Amino acid sequence: MQDVIEIREEGRLLSRVLSGAGVGDIAAAAAPYGRIWIVYDANAAVHARKAAQALEATGRLAAVGPISVSEEGKTIQTVMDIEDWLLESGADRDALLLAVGGGITTDMAGFAASIYKRGIRFAFIPTTLLAQVDAAIGGKTGVNFKSLKNMVGVIRQPEFTLICPDVLETLPARDFRSGAAELLKTFIIEDGGNYEKAVALLGDIAAGASIASRSEELRRLIFAAAAVKAGVVSRDQFENGERRKLNLGHTFAHAIEWLSREQKRDITHGEAVAIGIIAAAKLTDSSLADKLRSDFEAAGLPTALPFPAKSLEAAMLKDKKAEGGKVHFVLIRSIGDVFIEDMTVAEAISKL
Ligand code: GLY
Repeated sequence: MQDVIEIREEGRLLSRVLSGAGVGDIAAAAAPYGRIWIVYDANAAVHARKAAQALEATGRLAAVGPISVSEEGKTIQTVMDIEDWLLESGADRDALLLAVGGGITTDMAGFAASIYKRGIRFAFIPTTLLAQVDAAIGGKTGVNFKSLKNMVGVIRQPEFTLICPDVLETLPARDFRSGAAELLKTFIIEDGGNYEKAVALLGDIAAGASIASRSEELRRLIFAAAAVKAGVVSRDQFENGERRKLNLGHTFAHAIEWLSREQKRDITHGEAVAIGIIAAAKLTDSSLADKLRSDFEAAGLPTALPFPAKSLEAAMLKDKKAEGGKVHFVLIRSIGDVFIEDMTVAEAISKL
């Protein structure tokens, strides 16, 4: 393993983020565990097969099961299907459930493991950039409910998240860009000298540079983002304060996604986050919003609100983080310096 990031709470190890040269490194990462069940996104079958082969060779692979993954299918029913499969294939309390896929897969598998027999251990091999820098780190698991995103779930940490940047070489460009939005978001929250480097690299990739040709720079930035997230989660696992910063742009994004589903428009989570970050920037500083807009557009991301601002209001009030009409908005002072301010949704909308 090239990098190991530990997530600790008051000294106690919660989880680890590991760097793999390839998915086959799962054999070493999973060496301390007993029998392993692999649940995977059918779109990530090629990576799941490699993981299964590596674990088969260690004699500890118990079962492999595909799930069909979509935002609409991110439901309690799919989680129950995973429970059924675990039960039918004889998973006991010592089982490790390994999820191979993007954020929807890791969210659902993490939730399924958290409630199966009152909780078994789980681990992730994220196969999208978005999951590598955000969804598969930090222990947020769950499903959508009544068209509301991630309304039902728990925070419970994976044993480890094994990040293998080579899987991104086969990721569709639109999915890569979706993750790029979360990567940029992370460095707007905590720069560490990485934001401008990420803008330059993502701009080159959007302009046609191959991921394979820039893999070392990308790997370094993914791990820098993972380290930022790991630090935040170590300090505020249950999102009572600092972790809220990771929701930069997300109150707008969730509303955009909700309206998109209602109106059958096709907008990915990362695209909605990109638009949401520009909207959040407008709440404090229009010149910063202009700079971010040009950086995001160079990375191939959309930045314009796809709906009239007023129509977002009702959707924003449905957000699970809205309390008494007020939302903890994450605002940007400058790149690397964000803060939280409670604001009514109406006030935020009036500034767009
Ligand atoms: N995706 C934001 C968080 O994990 O807190």
